[in-house]
Amino acid sequence: MIAISLSNVTVSFGDFDAVDDLTAEIPAGQWVGLIGPNGAGKTSLLRAVLGLLPHSGRISLDGTDHAALTRRDLSRQVALVPQTPVCPPEMAVADYVLLGRTPYISYLGTETVHDIEVVAAIIDRLDLGHFVRRPLRTLSGGELQRVVLARALAQQAPVLLLDEPTSALDVGHQQQVLELVDELCRHDGLTVVAAMHDLTLAGQFADRLLLMSNGRSVAMGPPADVLTEHTISEHYGASVRVLRDECGGVVVVPTRAHTRGSADTGLTDDTGLADEASADARG
Ligand SMILES: Nc1ncnc2c1ncn2[C@@H]1O[C@H](COP(=O)(O)OP(=O)(O)OP(=O)(O)O)[C@@H](O)[C@H]1O
Ligand SMILES: [Mg+2]
Repeated sequence: MIAISLSNVTVSFGDFDAVDDLTAEIPAGQWVGLIGPNGAGKTSLLRAVLGLLPHSGRISLDGTDHAALTRRDLSRQVALVPQTPVCPPEMAVADYVLLGRTPYISYLGTETVHDIEVVAAIIDRLDLGHFVRRPLRTLSGGELQRVVLARALAQQAPVLLLDEPTSALDVGHQQQVLELVDELCRHDGLTVVAAMHDLTLAGQFADRLLLMSNGRSVAMGPPADVLTEHTISEHYGASVRVLRDECGGVVVVPTRAHTRGSADTGLTDDTGLADEASADARG
């Protein structure tokens, strides 16, 4: 199991700091949910942990400084499911998932029986068996998202970074994918950092949440401590109710000041429908 230590990490684009002096400890074998509004710096942070973006400050994996690891070492340790994956459109699903084994295949070498077995097991686990020969361009958005996750899992890295892994999935596949990641976390000891916009799902699955805003870490702790109406309003500018489910989990529900059918419909027309709607709402 691998802990990730982030110490005064800054990721800059020109004179703009997308990640700004961020310090956080990601405990080994835990699932940390990375939340925050659009542009907060979540993707930039994940890409820096993967070694795809230069940073200042210190990122270490189990005490070993990032800078001391070769690209190949790093890709055996950390796998990323990107927010916007680049996929060769004509490549078959099975070949794409096999790319996840690249860190284990020697230069000019070919995949081993073990590599093929790992890939087959993951394809099976993610229920992708009937897609294996299909070119990537023919998959739906949600199918492609699961194939990209399969490729990352084929990497068998002890740290899994997920950038909006379920944004294109229906509610059933969302649960299937997140439960699988949870199982990998609990049973295989994976350390998971997942950027997610669905705050309820993030709170249900993560052990801890790290809230980023303007590149900074503004809160970190158990979901119930981080997901408060005040905090969400302050950093997302959103009006929400935070409820508890029967298991003590947090449910974040967006609220509207005016809803259709309420006494003040906000409708302005001259058809009389607005008045009728208001009358209906008043009963
Ligand atoms: N290559 C780049 N050049 C310039 N600015 C960039 C670059 N990449 C990201 N940024 C900026 O850095 C900020 C953080 O971007 P980032 O993608 O990390 O946000 P995010 O939290 O992942 O947002 P989202 O929720 O929309 O995915 C944004 O303002 C973005 O425009
Ligand atoms: Mg992002």
